[in-house]
Amino acid sequence: MKNNLTELANALNTNLGLDKCVAYRVLSERGRRIYFPHKGILGQSAEARSAEINATIGTAFEEDGTPLALPIIKKALALPEKTAQTAFLYQPSFGKAQLRKKWGEKLLEKNKNLAGIKFSEPVVTAALTHALSISASMFVNPGDTIIMPDLYWDNYDLIFYESHGASIKTYNTFVNGNFDTAALAKTLEGPGKKIVLLNFPNNPTGYTVTNNEAKEIFEALKNCAEKGNDVVVLLDDAYFGLVYEKGIYEDSLFSLLANAHENLLAVKMDGPTKEDYVWGFRVGFITFAFKGAADIQLKALEDKAAGTVRATISNASSPSQEILFNAYSSESYESEKRVKYNTLKARYEKIKQVLADRPEYAESFTAMPFNSGYFMCVKINGAELEAVRQECLKNGLGVISISGLIRIAFSSVPLNKIEELFERLHKAVKAVK
Ligand SMILES: Cc1ncc(COP(=O)(O)O)c(C=O)c1O
Repeated sequence: MKNNLTELANALNTNLGLDKCVAYRVLSERGRRIYFPHKGILGQSAEARSAEINATIGTAFEEDGTPLALPIIKKALALPEKTAQTAFLYQPSFGKAQLRKKWGEKLLEKNKNLAGIKFSEPVVTAALTHALSISASMFVNPGDTIIMPDLYWDNYDLIFYESHGASIKTYNTFVNGNFDTAALAKTLEGPGKKIVLLNFPNNPTGYTVTNNEAKEIFEALKNCAEKGNDVVVLLDDAYFGLVYEKGIYEDSLFSLLANAHENLLAVKMDGPTKEDYVWGFRVGFITFAFKGAADIQLKALEDKAAGTVRATISNASSPSQEILFNAYSSESYESEKRVKYNTLKARYEKIKQVLADRPEYAESFTAMPFNSGYFMCVKINGAELEAVRQECLKNGLGVISISGLIRIAFSSVPLNKIEELFERLHKAVKAVK
């Protein structure tokens, strides 16, 4: 029976610096056990890459050495020949090397305040849900508490509570139209390891913190670390970049937290799912940083993340990684992305206008703060939520009822239907009343 930590896990833990390093101290039992098997099948196979006769890995090749592939599938991929060939093969568990490098460069381009701050290379995951599961596996023990605002994506329940045995402690999300940073600071009181999950732009509310609120969150977390607590901050940046107002913090909070304090580990989870509109591609990234991190420590964290990838899905979709790498290397990528951003922004602005033009809607619902992302939420005034949702459905309007609110995904509603959407919601609330 295998019980002790393997030599490889021990080596990574030693590289991290054991108890002297926050990244080691905050690892879960599983996180301490996991390692990347560099010397296993994958490593041996890599060593044999240029061997004349290579009988190492379980992929299949034609007599001429190209990947064995069904023509019908190859044709459907419609990629340049060389890319189409690699698309059929496995990518490393760490992800396609050039894609990781490119995503790291993009992080610097997209986060102006990250300049000069050290962070790990991103490790590729099967999109954000998987990155979140990896973070849970690496940092959450059964019985640990995860701190998050009370308006949160419901899948966190399955990931952290049901699958990893953590309890979820929530704090009030909004006060007077702003993020309740004081409520967050209050939940950080008391000694011990803190695991904090932040998600901006937020699902379900579509809210991103202002520059000032970002600073307050940073201060609260830094303050907690300064008191001697180990702090892991999990940043779910699924909707990164979709900010529609001025004065909103446009970087990821990773920029502030990556170099905040020796006791604070920042874990950034992001990816193209929502940012680049490729929901079904299943590619994401997990990236680590803490103040004073040495290369060897960041590499140890990458190894543990890639080891978790290897243990769960082995490696992420190769066609998706190839297509994304091609896109990120293309000259038209940024301008094409801008067009899609403008599509969503126009809907956001239309909603603001409709709400301003129709004060009578306040009898039926009140908009929660929103300024970014795919969603906005309304609080229903004086009618039962589920009854309103059902009434909406009867009138051809689908919305989500969640956390005592109605969530509207304007990301999926054409501009010319936005006015009608709110009119139907108003009518539904009146009918239920
Ligand atoms: C806040 C948040 N995080 C993560 C995800 C999941 O992203 P992915 O599809 O990349 O797993 C979603 C999807 O709805 C989300 O809203």
